[in-house]
Amino acid sequence: MAAAAATALLLLPILAAAPWAASAASGEKSTHMKLYWHDVVSGPSPTAVPVARAAVTNNSKTAFGAVVVIDDPLTQGPDLKSSKPLGRAQGTYIAAGKDELSLMMNMNFVFQAGKYNGSTVAIMGKNAAFDAVREMAIVGGTGVFRMARGYAQARTHTLDLKTGDATVEYNLFIKH
Ligand SMILES: *[C@@H]1O[C@H](CO)[C@@H](O)[C@H](O)[C@H]1NC(C)=O
Ligand SMILES: *[C@@H]1O[C@H](CO)[C@@H](O)[C@H](O)[C@H]1NC(C)=O
Repeated sequence: MAAAAATALLLLPILAAAPWAASAASGEKSTHMKLYWHDVVSGPSPTAVPVARAAVTNNSKTAFGAVVVIDDPLTQGPDLKSSKPLGRAQGTYIAAGKDELSLMMNMNFVFQAGKYNGSTVAIMGKNAAFDAVREMAIVGGTGVFRMARGYAQARTHTLDLKTGDATVEYNLFIKH
């Protein structure tokens, strides 16, 4: 019995030092949030600007080879003018589908208000923009969202085919 106790005492520091033992169980959160992403391509102050386009292809259906830099407003509700601003979606999207419209999204959701102010979530994934629901990976985060992983689901709320302006509902499911 004394030997067993001694063994237990010897193992204690090893168990206590195992990093996964503590972090896996303690304090992991699941956060779901819904917000609206506004891609403003028209007008005098666009938030999505094309910066490059392939010279060798000219496929207006898929825009293959185009690169767009975004600093898109994120709001709580769907109306850009009246909804509470939550932050910005900063990054790029690339038309990466040769024969289909398929955007490669690479953006940070930068929160600038509310309880996530100062934190970011990194989103990367395929966005076939004409599909009803597009799922993308949440690959990381900072601040409140350090070590984040999860997924985002995007659904087009409105798309103005004349101007190209779009409002998209994003649902984020984050473990952090
Ligand atoms: C590229 O596409 C535009 C718009 O569809 C068209 O007007 C133009 O002639 C095309 N250029 C070439 C080189 O095919
Ligand atoms: C967000 O945080 C920044 C930096 O702490 C602060 O200046 C700003 O007022 C905050 N914004 C809101 C809307 O709370």
